[in-house]
Amino acid sequence: MESSLPIGVFDSGVGGLSVARSIIKTLPYEKIIYYGDTEHLPYGEKSNNSIILFSKKITNFLIKKKCKIIIIACNSASTAAYEELQKINNKIKIINVVDPVVAELKKVNKKCNIGLIGTKCTVNSKNYEKKINKSNIKIFSLSTPLLAPMIEEKINDNLSTNIIANYLSNKKFKNIHKMILGCTHYHLIRENVKLFFKNEVEIINSNIIVSRYVKNYLITKNLVNKNKKKQNHEFYVSNYTNSFEKCAKLFFKQKINLKQHKII
Ligand code: DGL
Repeated sequence: MESSLPIGVFDSGVGGLSVARSIIKTLPYEKIIYYGDTEHLPYGEKSNNSIILFSKKITNFLIKKKCKIIIIACNSASTAAYEELQKINNKIKIINVVDPVVAELKKVNKKCNIGLIGTKCTVNSKNYEKKINKSNIKIFSLSTPLLAPMIEEKINDNLSTNIIANYLSNKKFKNIHKMILGCTHYHLIRENVKLFFKNEVEIINSNIIVSRYVKNYLITKNLVNKNKKKQNHEFYVSNYTNSFEKCAKLFFKQKINLKQHKII
């Protein structure tokens, strides 16, 4: 496997852009090929079978693009489709966004109450609870289905502040020490969540945890790009939207040539 090959990253929409940006901050010479399945979002409301189907099609697309590894930058797809995606091609490493965070939380030895907000798919599956499974750690989870579509549409007004506050004031979160943003879209409202808890709750930075994990993996496999030049990342969506292009521009501070590519 050539170290100069790109890293594939996918999500249902803009959420995974925050993961991709974090990877680039940690590994500045890697090229990203990003796919946002804007036609089928929100994934969190879909059946596992549909999420598996879309994720497989995207993974095959990224494999055709010769990606050296693929990051499922979506908690819902990490939950519903990870096992199936691993079966596609045993030469391509697939990394999900749940396991690195679970590994980090398993290191906590004190009594710890952790809040979790995520899509219905992620929360109902109890994926985090099952994987962490430590008696000193209690997870208090709530599905917050209005958030991803709101973030995708870049709605940032009083209504969105009220929706966020409404979810976070749930009594489940009264005595939490840490909070998992269990949907990659929610990293775009990270500051709002921090502010709501008056900086008294640690908002776990899954993006940093995942990008360090990716870096360690590439180092171990001798796959870090040795060609030290700035890369032109590629961005694809299943349904072109202006707001996606704007968001990608904002995140990557470069001209984005957003291409539409249908997977189905
Ligand atoms: N960003 C995705 C996640 O992490 C899902 C948002 C959606 O429902 O499409 O779960």
